[in-house]
Amino acid sequence: MPTPARLRVAQALHGVFGEGARVADTWDRGLGEDAALAQALLGLCLRRWGRLQAFGSARLKDPGRGLPLGTRIALAVGLAQLAWLPGVTDFAAVDEAVGLAGDRTLGFPAHRGLVNAILRQAARDRSALAADLEALPARLDRSDFAERSLLAALRPHGSGDSLEALWVTLARPPRPAFRALEEGPPEDLEPDPALPGCLRLAEGAPFPRAWLEAGGGMVQDRSSQALLAYLWDPTPGRILDACAAPGGKTTGLALRYPGADLWAVERQPRRAERLRRTLDGRGIQAQVVQADAAVWLAAGGAPFDLILLDAPCSGSGTLQKHPELVWLGDALDVSRLAEEQRRLLEAAAGRLAPGGLLIYAVCSWLPEEGADHREVLLATRPDLQPAPVWPSAFGSPADAQEGRTAFFRPDPAGWEGEGFQAFAFTRS
Ligand SMILES: C[S@@+](CC[C@H](N)C(=O)[O-])C[C@H]1O[C@@H](n2cnc3c(N)ncnc32)[C@H](O)[C@@H]1O
Repeated sequence: MPTPARLRVAQALHGVFGEGARVADTWDRGLGEDAALAQALLGLCLRRWGRLQAFGSARLKDPGRGLPLGTRIALAVGLAQLAWLPGVTDFAAVDEAVGLAGDRTLGFPAHRGLVNAILRQAARDRSALAADLEALPARLDRSDFAERSLLAALRPHGSGDSLEALWVTLARPPRPAFRALEEGPPEDLEPDPALPGCLRLAEGAPFPRAWLEAGGGMVQDRSSQALLAYLWDPTPGRILDACAAPGGKTTGLALRYPGADLWAVERQPRRAERLRRTLDGRGIQAQVVQADAAVWLAAGGAPFDLILLDAPCSGSGTLQKHPELVWLGDALDVSRLAEEQRRLLEAAAGRLAPGGLLIYAVCSWLPEEGADHREVLLATRPDLQPAPVWPSAFGSPADAQEGRTAFFRPDPAGWEGEGFQAFAFTRS
């Protein structure tokens, strides 16, 4: 019987490759000390899935023969442990994977012998196995969606030839970033020298779950923190976070503008409820509205001095944090997402007060979710002017204006954070 950690990994892989489902935030809950092994193993299987599959197929008598998903998962789980987790014994790696293959729901019992034979052979020389896997083309581990995302990330910075180097970075687990909400964060969290207020987990330190659960701080990616550190002096009276859940950026806005009339809109009822609870728990005064933001904005009302539209998107900039997206991205309807973003953007622009600031953001590198919308606004809305509110280092050299940029898209080759595109406009 495989351990709960391996079973959970196999279940998550079935979800991704069998059902096209995202890996739930709670997938490793209750695993205790084994959670670290499970996280490492799932990360390796997702980040090296293409190469693991190619290695397994090449060892079949008929390499072109398709294998059931249960067999492919058992092989990937066994091979990944043998190749890259030296703390796992040969016996545990092979035996548990064979056990998985024999599981009626998660495996394919008729292939226990096949999985056993391939893994026993591989276990004879684990260094050679790792070298063989690493020698396979890295492109095998990237879907077309991932490839397109990387090219889009690099193109504005003229560094398209660094694609393989970027992929190596994205194929490593990310180092989490935090923001303190109370004094005295844990000592394991170190200030990020390049980003005031941003805290990073020290190398090898345990994840500060207790601190987060006690409300001492929140997880917030570097890109989001840099985005919210825009340089704009006015003090806005009315602020809207148009797509607000889970509330990280609403919290950032509330901390920056205490006393402002802050509104947070979220379409999904359960997420809106969670947003309400999170903001209450943090002592943040905001009017939470559960609605489609475009419909709600178009219904009229007083204009806003500051609007943040952190729109729903493909998440193509989050491949490092969510490696399953590499494999789920091809099925995404990006043009439908882009239509939705345009609908929200037009509605938001319609409620911006004269002199106000509109920030549109997506955690995606794809031009149809960012740069193209900006072009449309530039061409069709003479009342909106680009607002250079970020240091020019956060944009491409072509966007720089006197040390600032109105188009936030850090060069991924030198940026440790999620891929974001954001642009700012002000209204005359
Ligand atoms: C990228 S997330 C926002 C993340 C959030 N700003 C934060 O930093 O914590 C986008 C959110 O917009 C919500 N959403 C999607 N379409 C919407 C719409 N038409 N109106 C309002 N909210 C929407 C999604 O449910 C999701 O919670």
